[in-house]
Amino acid sequence: DKGNYKHFMAKEIHEQPEVIGHTISRYIDLNDYSTVVPEASAIDFTKLDRLVITACGTAYYAGLVAKYWFEKYARLPVDIDIASEFRYREMPVKAGDLALFISQSGETADTLASLRYCKDKGMVIGSVVNVPESTIARESNVVFPTYAGPEIGVASTKAFTCQLTVLAALAVHAGRMRGTLSEAQAKGLVETLSELPSYTRQALALSDQIEEMAHWISQTNHALFLGRGTSFPMALEGALKLKEISYIHAEGYAAGELKHGPIALIDETMPVFVVAPHDSIYEKTVSNMQEVAARGGRIVLITNGKGAEAAGLEAHHIITVPDVPEIATPIVYALPLQLISYYTAVFMGTDVDQPRNLAKSVTVE
Ligand code: F6R
Repeated sequence: DKGNYKHFMAKEIHEQPEVIGHTISRYIDLNDYSTVVPEASAIDFTKLDRLVITACGTAYYAGLVAKYWFEKYARLPVDIDIASEFRYREMPVKAGDLALFISQSGETADTLASLRYCKDKGMVIGSVVNVPESTIARESNVVFPTYAGPEIGVASTKAFTCQLTVLAALAVHAGRMRGTLSEAQAKGLVETLSELPSYTRQALALSDQIEEMAHWISQTNHALFLGRGTSFPMALEGALKLKEISYIHAEGYAAGELKHGPIALIDETMPVFVVAPHDSIYEKTVSNMQEVAARGGRIVLITNGKGAEAAGLEAHHIITVPDVPEIATPIVYALPLQLISYYTAVFMGTDVDQPRNLAKSVTVE
């Protein structure tokens, strides 16, 4: 049932404050802002040398964001790969180390094959899944559920942000267990995570502004998305979402890679979406943005209030996202990126919930 929405995708985008709230409440204790991960009691985080993460598509991008988090907060090195590559690579892995698989459906063939490879090698198998009775969940030693509820739209939206929510809580938990975060730091991070429902609700208020941009975006055949740090995987996700439902060719790049090739594409017709919260690397991203502007590229800057102020006149459009602490940014910035692809596709009249050639659950490789 789509309720009052035209598409499941719109409904699912708008459900995010609520389902992220359900999800985070399972992983934190609001009384003392601690992480509560009973599932993780089987895992000795202090003994881990590294974490292996494997997934496909949007779930893989959630894993890429998590790599930044686990490395920063838990000082735990992360190896992450696309499942279709991982499964045939015969990567050397250590028995007893943790392998984490991320999947909305829990049935993705390549992800499952990668899981079985790691299990065979004696790794501890953890999964972040949205369907608790799925094959990936059943074959895992430890399941970290997302509580997104059924996701009908083929393009993943609420499942993705719930995956990020679980992974953020897990990274903070691992940091506590490994002593790489002080209790005070961990509490601060948990407090931020507890605000995610409110932050994402504020981000939904960008809908009207983004809807007004859809006509302009729909006139292009190509678009670039740029970001650094955790905004790099978010740029990849923004590009994937746009191409899969509007069929506009879009590429996501680490902003620092711009001058290693893709800058050749920039001309007056090329929209460039720059994902850049005002953080420690903001200046670097802005300097990439200036390079785009100097070549006539049409910039859409997705940033917070401070970032908007500091951006100068380079950006043609500025989408000002609520000001949130760093760990919340990927989850909050996901919403404007989803809305960009949603409204563009609606404007173009494509089949938003059932894009051509795509299936919700990819059970064949
Ligand atoms: C993109 C999308 C896909 C899935 C991918 C993995 O919007 O939905 O890229 O993320 O097919 O699916 P799951 O998470 O079910 O393993």
